[in-house]
Amino acid sequence: MDKFIINGGKKLSGTIKVSGAKNAILPIMTATLLAKGKTILHNVPYLNDIKMMAHLLRVIGARVDFADEVMEIDTTHCSFFEAPYELVSKMRASIWVLGPLLARFGEAKVSFPGGCAIGTRPVDLHLKAMEAMGAKIDIEHGYIFAKCEKLKGAKIEFEKVSVGATANALMAAVTAEGVTEIINAATEPEISSLIDFLNIMGAKISGKSTSHLIIQGVERLNPVAMNMIPDRIEAGTFLIAGAITKSRITVDRCCPEHLQALIEKLTEVGCDLNIKENSIELIPAEHIRPVDVTAVPHPGFPTDLQAQFLALMTLSEGECKIKDTVFPDRFMHVAELNRLDANIILENGVATVKGVESLSGAEVMATDLRASAALVLAGLAANGQTIISRIYHIDRGYEQIEKKLSEIGADIQRVLA
Ligand code: EPZ
Repeated sequence: MDKFIINGGKKLSGTIKVSGAKNAILPIMTATLLAKGKTILHNVPYLNDIKMMAHLLRVIGARVDFADEVMEIDTTHCSFFEAPYELVSKMRASIWVLGPLLARFGEAKVSFPGGCAIGTRPVDLHLKAMEAMGAKIDIEHGYIFAKCEKLKGAKIEFEKVSVGATANALMAAVTAEGVTEIINAATEPEISSLIDFLNIMGAKISGKSTSHLIIQGVERLNPVAMNMIPDRIEAGTFLIAGAITKSRITVDRCCPEHLQALIEKLTEVGCDLNIKENSIELIPAEHIRPVDVTAVPHPGFPTDLQAQFLALMTLSEGECKIKDTVFPDRFMHVAELNRLDANIILENGVATVKGVESLSGAEVMATDLRASAALVLAGLAANGQTIISRIYHIDRGYEQIEKKLSEIGADIQRVLA
């Protein structure tokens, strides 16, 4: 297993570029199953999760070509409607084939996703949405078997905001008979991007960026070409890299509008942000102020930046509290950050962070994608050497992070196992 070796304490400077958004691209890849023909996606990073989704689409019968950030998906000959255990167990986003397969074939067999490092993560809301549209769902031998004659428009009211369930419901509804209403829908930019993609394909979805979506079912959709949105979580991670190393950097090719909640928190921390249309320059705080954060659904502070912000708070001049209402147990990074001499106490789902003067390098282990990013950030700021193992987690969602960070002055190397 590869490792990162980071010699911390170096100042960063210059411009770092953001790649396409993994969490926007994955559902869009599954949405291509809704139309026969060739879809072209631009600005697609070479990430493990994206390669795994491409593999799943090939299993279903699609032809997928991927080079130079362009992905071509030809779904003309898809005929297999199963997402097998070995793929779903590695990547929960595979559940997103459920809606499109049901819509296209009237049948789907998808392995039931298990728990994962950030929580139990049930899929009940996905299944309830499919049932509301007339699918019959059975769970047997670890698989979800879903069947329907023709999906029918329905009123779907989610009791909890779920990005995944909103995406699945949308993809099932676009070609269903009649009108579907989704109430308490997720409003994350990745959902808005999926809505844009579906509407370009010919869907009729209104209410984008609100929690109330109305979908008028259409007969058929057409394959299209689209540019993928920038990854707000990668952009946010880089902004925090500037803040934690007290470095002036520019994060380029990002969408500042998607980063409002982080921008507000970084301003409270004492950083100055020079915001342009597609870039943000971060002027770091001399003294990092402690700032409480509670991760909530969009437009609030994103759970996918909670670990990285917590890493920043370990060097604040005071005490603050971090909570996560989206994934209340998403705190695997706490014990590892404490190995770097941070002072964090986790009690009843609240991390109390008492800022320390400095972190000191140590050997730590990546436990999930964003926890790994938090360790990289802490390692960049720590005195001495930090060795991070199990970095395959970070490769799921950050394209060559060591290369991008080295280009702005970090001393980080990948050591191949
Ligand atoms: C997506 O996961 C993202 N994954 C996650 O990013 C992100 O953390 C999450 O949304 C929240 O923003 C991808 O886009 C691939 P949810 P998802 O359904 O869709 C509960 C990363 O680091 N819930 O919005 O699985 C659930 O347990 C990842 O890139 C149910 O109870 O998240 C959680 O508490 C990790 N029943 C809450 O809802 C359900 O049927 C929100 O989860 C579904 C979800």
